[in-house]
Amino acid sequence: MQMPVALSAYATDVDKSYYIIYWLSVVLFIGIIGAATYFCLAYKRKAGVRAEPTGHNNILELSWTVAPVFILAYLFWIGWKGYVDMSIVPPNAIEVRGRAFQWGWDFEYPNGAHTPDLKAPVGKPVKLILSSNDVLHAFFIPQLRIKRDTVPGMYVSLWFEADKEGDADIFCAEYCGGKGEGTAAIGHWAMISKVHILSVADYDKFILEGGGAKPGESVPDWGKRLYVEKNCAGCHSLDGAVGAGPSWKGIFGRTGVMTAGPDIVADENYIRESILEPQAHIVKGFGPVMPSFKGILQDKEIDAIISFMKTLK
Ligand code: CUA
Repeated sequence: MQMPVALSAYATDVDKSYYIIYWLSVVLFIGIIGAATYFCLAYKRKAGVRAEPTGHNNILELSWTVAPVFILAYLFWIGWKGYVDMSIVPPNAIEVRGRAFQWGWDFEYPNGAHTPDLKAPVGKPVKLILSSNDVLHAFFIPQLRIKRDTVPGMYVSLWFEADKEGDADIFCAEYCGGKGEGTAAIGHWAMISKVHILSVADYDKFILEGGGAKPGESVPDWGKRLYVEKNCAGCHSLDGAVGAGPSWKGIFGRTGVMTAGPDIVADENYIRESILEPQAHIVKGFGPVMPSFKGILQDKEIDAIISFMKTLK
């Protein structure tokens, strides 16, 4: 009743543990506060009554010491069991590589395809191997009850097995910076994605068709889709408006004045370098704020983005 829809058996187990602890707390709260209130009223100091020591009651004192030991051991056991279930990945799990960056997610599948949203088959274990390209982020899917910090320079993993088809939100649960002004989607709050739990047939179809342009999509259109999906739009406008980065309108072939060194023409090589190593040559007037897309954008995707840029006269 307090939890979002559960999409896996693991989520149901987490909820069960949560509600056991929740209702135990309610019962203990009412019992303890109720007893304290009763004693306060029943044994209130009265004129003419002298307080006498009550002495010991060994049975009572032993039982309120021993009973909580069993309760705490039980709570430890359900917590430990949940932790072990989450930590031990079934050997037949599908491996998906996830990368967090400012500000988005990238998922890479065994066939080399990349998506900004996570696709997973229903009823099969999926192992996520996560890392971060820049700062600390936290991968969080409330409906699957899984959460893990992603750390630069380190792999972490977690797994899930969804038992229902459907979509669920992916959040970043760690404040990872951002710019405060404007409506551009640049910041922690914009780091929202989805996990799509597909039928096994749909997932297999996705793996077969792989990444790349969708059927019927031209290469520049694919580049335009990447512009949206990879959140380039957060910093680079298409209408000439200057954001955290230069607008892409008319960018291709333009000569740019650099913060250091000679002027550079924005050709294929310069744009590729700016995507992979953004700090190498920065156009004057802009800060060193762009994250690297190394490992996130593949060569053919960079080509598609460049061909999209060429259409922005
Ligand atoms: Cu990434 Cu918050």
